[in-house]
Amino acid sequence: MSELNKLKTEIKESVIHEQKDECETAESHNSCMMNRREFMLFGSAAIVSASTISLSLLPGGAHAGEAKAQVAGYPRLKIAKLSELKDNKVVDFQYPDKKKGSQCTLVKMGVEAGGGIGDKKDIVAFSTLCTHQGGPLMGTYQATDEHRTLGPCPLHLSLYDLRRHGIVASGQAYQSIPQVLLEVDGDDIYAVGMMGLLFGRHKNLLDA
Ligand code: FES
Repeated sequence: MSELNKLKTEIKESVIHEQKDECETAESHNSCMMNRREFMLFGSAAIVSASTISLSLLPGGAHAGEAKAQVAGYPRLKIAKLSELKDNKVVDFQYPDKKKGSQCTLVKMGVEAGGGIGDKKDIVAFSTLCTHQGGPLMGTYQATDEHRTLGPCPLHLSLYDLRRHGIVASGQAYQSIPQVLLEVDGDDIYAVGMMGLLFGRHKNLLDA
């Protein structure tokens, strides 16, 4: 190998090594996740004001833990009562507004999930419009053994994993189903933000 090529290889390896080091600790990994989440939270919406909430990450594995997520300009909307939830029974609602494309569903899944709230971190909420071409996912929630999914979409069979922030488990979609960020205050459950862009919108907050 020529001296020049050797030098290029050394520089490349050194950069890869530094990037790896930056994301290797749990704390810095959350920081990496945080940046991505912030990007998804803010999207193209105008940032009106910012507040911070705690967000539990994927249960198990290297991503376990909590991160702080900034919630910019989203309404705080009461959507359910803790005491009225039953395992695997969905509660449908609209968020962040009552306009087209805002259909969402909340469910207490009985198993821990990324972004879950409550004592068992098992209460989550998601959009019910498929991110592929907007197929309706309302009523497609399924609990099978330890798996909790939304789908398959009636149009092209996409299936989303609700224990892992709504990532695509199979099918045509390539974007996670948007997850509604939740908070508990006493017996009340509030929607306070959203990760991911709702299908059919160029920004989640249409009036922002
Ligand atoms: S619209 Fe849902 S998979 Fe295509």
